[in-house]
Amino acid sequence: MIRGVPAIMRDPLSWLERVVAEHGNLVAFPMPSTPVLLVNTAAGARHVLQRNHRNYTKATIQYGALSLVTGSGLLTSDGEVWRRHRRTLQPAFHHGGLDQVALSTVAAGEDLRAAWDQALPYAPIDAEAAIMRAMLTVVGKTLFADDLSSAGEELVHAVDRALQQVMARATSPLAAGPLSRLPTLSARRMRSAVATLDQITADIVARRREQEVKAQDADLLAVLLRAADDRQMTEREVRDELVTLVIAGHETVASSLVWTLHLLAGAPEVQERLYAELDQVLDGRSPGWKDVPQLVYTRAVVDEALRMYPPAWVITRRSAGPDTIDGVDVPEGTLVIVSPWLLHRSAAWPDPQRFDPERFVDAEPGQGDRNPAYLPFGAGPRLCIGRDFALVESVLLLATLLRDRSVRRPAGSPPPVIKALVTLRPKNGLPLALVPRRA
Ligand code: HEM
Repeated sequence: MIRGVPAIMRDPLSWLERVVAEHGNLVAFPMPSTPVLLVNTAAGARHVLQRNHRNYTKATIQYGALSLVTGSGLLTSDGEVWRRHRRTLQPAFHHGGLDQVALSTVAAGEDLRAAWDQALPYAPIDAEAAIMRAMLTVVGKTLFADDLSSAGEELVHAVDRALQQVMARATSPLAAGPLSRLPTLSARRMRSAVATLDQITADIVARRREQEVKAQDADLLAVLLRAADDRQMTEREVRDELVTLVIAGHETVASSLVWTLHLLAGAPEVQERLYAELDQVLDGRSPGWKDVPQLVYTRAVVDEALRMYPPAWVITRRSAGPDTIDGVDVPEGTLVIVSPWLLHRSAAWPDPQRFDPERFVDAEPGQGDRNPAYLPFGAGPRLCIGRDFALVESVLLLATLLRDRSVRRPAGSPPPVIKALVTLRPKNGLPLALVPRRA
């Protein structure tokens, strides 16, 4: 493992694949300070995240690095703090909020189409940068009832810079150790990115406080500010949840959509089926919340893309006490690694490297989203709080973009290289063209 550190940092996905190919699905690494166990069985993963979740905390290097940016928000906190916050925030994610999510997503999708049209006719644009910005706008509107577009560019860069530092610390024991406290260039970059995030979130709160937060306001920011007014949360906790949701809520969805478009561009027969459904349900008009239940194949495309490119490609925990996973002893303090990337491409799936949304249409028990090896949103009590939001956003953004257009890769473009950061991103962006279908 120690010898493997440069390889992990260079290409963590290939490194994970090599480890299970060479050592099997439960791999214990004899690290000097912390025992590490890679768990690559669905039963083992669900044991850690679900069945025996009480024995597993988020006190890991990865979540420790993330908490330098998010503080003790929902993603990184544990125990009583996490339970209290999850209870407070949950109402902002109820289904009643989904029509607002739908409206904001379709509006952001229409703006995206316009951005594509501003390029030369049918010319490719960097889909990654454009979608990243669009999903940030959706988070701003749906969670904070705020227009983040003025701060958009600065916010995207601050999040990017902060997450690059998080990643450096999460994959390198040296960067995460005592050396991380030295006044290095990396530490300075982290501080400056966090200061920008602090400023932007303080501005969001100040703008909202200038208006009255009404009792019936159900968006997340209103929920948080009421909790602060009732002294159930401190101002610092409000800040931590805002930063957590900006980070958790836009890059994940954007990453998944970018890979969905990439997969579609390489699969004309899947595109054809998708267009048949979009034509039948929408007949060229803009989609809305009411259309989501009819867009069954569109949803299967999203599910399948989440299988092949799970934005949260690794989930970590630390064992609070000794345990046994699939017959392997787990000492107290073990860093347990579960990788949706590995599980989603494992032998639990027929022909796992094939992009085939059909697996998710009327899935039999054990198949599609009923396959226990499918964990794009995690499992157990720490299951993603934004899952339903993310699925509605993904289905409606795809439907908005592709209702009368098809997606193409520029001729001769090389296949994208995957950069495994906090989410999976295409190295150097992803140029794609949207071409009118009936042209
Ligand atoms: C395709 C999009 C998304 C993916 C793949 C995704 C994935 C995940 C995963 C795997 C976890 C569990 C992490 C763990 O167990 O350690 C998680 C948790 C979380 N996600 Fe998402 N997520 C997505 C979208 C969103 C959105 C849209 C939001 C908010 C608007 C969000 C907010 C959160 C939060 C706050 C948590 C922590 C929940 C808790 O522990 O109580 N996510 N997400």
